[in-house]
Amino acid sequence: MNRTVPAVRLRVPTDEDAVAWHRVFDDPDVMEFQGGSPAELSVYEELTARQRRHDAERGFCLWSMVDDADRVIGFTGAQPWPHAWGPRGEIEIGWRLGRAHWGRGYVTAAARQTLERLRAAGVPVVVAMVDADNARSIAVTERLGMRLTEVFTTPTSRRRGNCYRLEL
Ligand SMILES: CC(C)(COP(=O)(O)OP(=O)(O)OC[C@H]1O[C@@H](n2cnc3c(N)ncnc32)[C@H](O)[C@@H]1OP(=O)(O)O)[C@@H](O)C(=O)NCCC(=O)NCCS
Repeated sequence: MNRTVPAVRLRVPTDEDAVAWHRVFDDPDVMEFQGGSPAELSVYEELTARQRRHDAERGFCLWSMVDDADRVIGFTGAQPWPHAWGPRGEIEIGWRLGRAHWGRGYVTAAARQTLERLRAAGVPVVVAMVDADNARSIAVTERLGMRLTEVFTTPTSRRRGNCYRLEL
């Protein structure tokens, strides 16, 4: 199928982007597989600050996605897996998009840009950890050509987490 690829720009999240992420993700659909309820602003202040550190240290991070009207619509990018369980020591690609922007290919386009940047940074392998019921996110891993290699059980919610992998 020949579809238009939406214009999307990736940039290191600014301090103000914490407010944008908080607003765009303040939706139970977006948070269904991230604990179920919207997170506090302080969570995004810490998350965006951490991404600026990753960018400074590694040259990549979870970037803000900006559309052609210069609006922040979500994030896509990569960071070191941040938990003590799961694919420790690996680089994880991740995405989260405002509900109004689903169904247009934004994240697939942003994830392809991310893979190019990771290759350029010399990252050999990338993983994606996805709740086994998160069909939309699993569909993104499939569009990227990632393959399911491991299954974890999340320690607190006891949910099945699929680990997808791609050699770069
Ligand atoms: C997971 C998530 C990012 C997927 O969003 P999405 O819009 O379905 O994904 P994409 O941006 O890749 O777009 C694919 C959709 O756009 C359509 N599309 C249109 N043009 C397209 C193009 N050029 N390329 C790819 N897909 C295109 C596809 O058909 C598909 O829609 P469909 O599933 O209704 O058929 C989104 O649901 C989300 O943010 N969820 C909440 C947070 C979350 O769960 N994050 C992942 C944690 S692991």
